[in-house]
Amino acid sequence: MGSVLLDGTADIRLNVLIPPGYSKAGGGQRIMRLAVKVVIGIGILAGLVYLYYTEIKPVVIFGLRSDYAHAIPFQKVPAGLASLKAESCGECHREIYEEWKTSIHSQAYRDPFFHAYWTKDKHIWVCLNCHSPLENQQPTLIKNIPRGRVEKSYEEPNPGFDPDYQQEGVTCAVCHVRDGVILGPFDDSAAPHPTQFDPSFRTAQVCHRCHNVVSGPAQFYNVGPCGTYAEYEGKFFMKERGFICQSCHMPEIDRPVAHGSPIRHGRQHLWRGGHDPDMVKRAMAIQVTATPSVPMPGEDLNVTLTLVNAGAGHKIPTGDPDRHFTVEFEVVDRNGNRVAEQRNTMGRWIMWQPAIIEVYDNRLLPLASRDYAFATRLPKNVDGLRLVARVRYHIQSEGQHQMLVKRFGLTAPDPYNFVVYEREVPLTTDLAAAFNDGPDPRLGCTASEHGEQAG
Ligand code: HEC
Ligand code: HEC
Ligand code: HEC
Ligand code: HEC
Ligand code: HEC
Repeated sequence: MGSVLLDGTADIRLNVLIPPGYSKAGGGQRIMRLAVKVVIGIGILAGLVYLYYTEIKPVVIFGLRSDYAHAIPFQKVPAGLASLKAESCGECHREIYEEWKTSIHSQAYRDPFFHAYWTKDKHIWVCLNCHSPLENQQPTLIKNIPRGRVEKSYEEPNPGFDPDYQQEGVTCAVCHVRDGVILGPFDDSAAPHPTQFDPSFRTAQVCHRCHNVVSGPAQFYNVGPCGTYAEYEGKFFMKERGFICQSCHMPEIDRPVAHGSPIRHGRQHLWRGGHDPDMVKRAMAIQVTATPSVPMPGEDLNVTLTLVNAGAGHKIPTGDPDRHFTVEFEVVDRNGNRVAEQRNTMGRWIMWQPAIIEVYDNRLLPLASRDYAFATRLPKNVDGLRLVARVRYHIQSEGQHQMLVKRFGLTAPDPYNFVVYEREVPLTTDLAAAFNDGPDPRLGCTASEHGEQAG
C-alpha cells in the first residue's frame, strides 16, 4: 500500500487497490496513523542522537584516565626558595632552564596550534591538565565530573591561580615538585632546597601521564590520540635496547647540575620532536632505487623509495593524529613543469563523525619499513627532464591548517610542513649512483637484510 504515496497517480490507484468493503475515508486514517508513527519514530531517533552526543560520545577526542582527569595538586614553594617559577630555578640551574625555554614543554600552553584547537573545543578545562597541569596554573578548580562528562563538570574559581605561571606550560615544578620537596634522580644532592631521590626519573614513567592519552566511549582508536607510550611499550628500542623516552629526547651530559656544584651525569632538557626537522630526520632512513638504473628514452622507469623507522622508539609519525608524512615523486622539465607526479601519504585515517573510528593506520613501528613505488614511461626526448623524490613531514594537513586559520584564529609563524628528504637528479644520469648514499649506520644488520629485499 505504501506505493500509493509515491506519485500523482495515487488517487486513481487508490480506487483500484482498496478492497471491497473499505471506504476511502478508512485509507485516509491509515495514512494519518502512518504519519503519526513516522513522527514518533523521528522523535525517538532525535532523542537517541541527543542522548548519544550528550551522554555517550565525549565532547573531546579522548577519554579520561584517573591521573590526567585531575590537575596536579597545588604546590607550595619549597623551603629555601623564593618562587616556583622556572626563571627562579634558573638562577642556579641556568643551563637546564635555557634548554627548557627552547623546548615545546615551555610552550605547551602558549603554543598557537594548541590555542587554535583549544578555541575550537570551547576552552574546555581538561586540556589544561597536560598543557598547564599544576593547580597553581589553572583558573578553576574542578569539583566533580558527573558521569565522566567534562563539559558538565562543576567548576569553582581557584583562589591560588597565577595567570603568569599558567604561561609556563609544562614547567619545572610539574615534574619536580611535590609536597614542598624537590624530587630528582640523585640520592646524594647537597642543595639549598629539600630534595628527594625518585627512581621514576630514570624510567619512562615520568612521561607516561601525558604521553599516553586514551580513547573514550564511542571512540575506536588503535592507540589513543597522543598515545606515544603505548606505541613504545614492548617494542624494539624498549625491549632490545633498554631505551627510555629520555634516551632520545633528553641527551646525556656531564656537567654541574647547579651553579658551582660538582660535575654529574645528567640530561639536557630539550625534548625535540615533530617541530624540529633535524629530529624528524633522525627518525628516518631513506633509500631510493631505480630500474633500469640508466633509463633510455621511451622506456619504463620504476623507482622505489624505502622509508625505515630507524631512530624513533615509537611509530613515526606519533602523537597528534594530524601528523603525517607524504612521499612525493615528480618528473619535471627544464621549465619546472610536472610531466608526471605521484603522492602517497603515511599517517592515520580517522573518521571523526558520528563516532571516532580509526579506519586505518599505516605509520611505521620501530625498525619497520615500507616501499613506495613509482612507475612512469619516459618520453622520447628526456633532455632536461629531472626526477624528484621527496619526503615531507606535516604537523597538520593543508585543509586543517586553513580551517584553524580562518575559524579559530591560528597565527603560527612556524612552518606546519617541511621537507625531510629531497633529491633531484637528471634522468640522463646513472640513477643508481645518484641515489646511492652508502650504508646507513643506524640500520646495522637490518640494512643488509633490507638491501636483499629491495634488490
Ligand atoms: C639557590 C640555588 C638553587 C635554586 C634557586 C634551585 N636549586 Fe635545585 N639544586 C641546587 C643545588 C646546589 C643542587 C644540588 C646539586 C648537586 O648536588 O650536584 C640542586 C639540586 C636539584 C635537583 C636534583 C635533586 C636530586 O636529588 O635529584 C633538582 C631536580 C632541582 N635542584 C630542581 C630545582 C627546581 C625545580 C628549582 C626551582 C623550583 C630549583 N631546583 C631551584 C640549587 C638550587
Ligand atoms: C605534564 C604533562 C607532560 C609530561 C609529564 C611530559 N610531557 Fe612531553 N609534552 C606535553 C605536552 C602537552 C606536549 C605538547 C606541547 C605542544 O605542542 O603544545 C608535549 C610535547 C612533547 C614532545 C614533542 C615536541 C615537539 O616538537 O612536538 C616531546 C618529544 C615530549 N613531549 C617528550 C616528553 C618526554 C620524553 C617526557 C618524559 C621525560 C615528557 N614529554 C613528559 C606534556 C607532557
Ligand atoms: C617533563 C618533565 C620535566 C620537566 C618539565 C623538567 N624536568 Fe628536570 N628532569 C626531568 C628528568 C626526567 C630528569 C632526570 C634526568 C636524568 O636521568 O639525569 C631531570 C633532571 C633534573 C635535574 C638533575 C640533573 C640532571 O640532569 O639529571 C635538575 C637539576 C632538573 N631536572 C631541573 C629542572 C629545572 C630547573 C626545570 C625547569 C627549567 C626542569 N628540570 C624541568 C624531567 C623534567
Ligand atoms: C629511539 C629513540 C626514541 C625513543 C626511545 C623515543 N622517541 Fe620519541 N621521537 C624520536 C624521534 C627521532 C622523533 C621524531 C620523529 C617524529 O616526530 O615522528 C620522536 C618524536 C616524538 C614526539 C613528537 C611527536 C609530534 O607530534 O611532534 C613525541 C611526543 C615523542 N617522540 C615522545 C616520546 C615518548 C613519550 C617516548 C617514550 C615513551 C619516546 N618518545 C621514545 C625518538 C625516540
Ligand atoms: C593527557 C594529556 C593531554 C591532554 C588532556 C590534552 N593534551 Fe594536547 N597534547 C598532549 C601531548 C603529550 C601532546 C604532544 C604529542 C604530539 O606532539 O603530538 C599534545 C599535543 C597537542 C597539540 C599539537 C600541538 C602542536 O604543536 O602541533 C594540540 C593542538 C593539542 N595537544 C590540543 C589539545 C586540546 C585542544 C586538548 C583538550 C581538548 C588537549 N590537547 C588535551 C597531551 C594532552
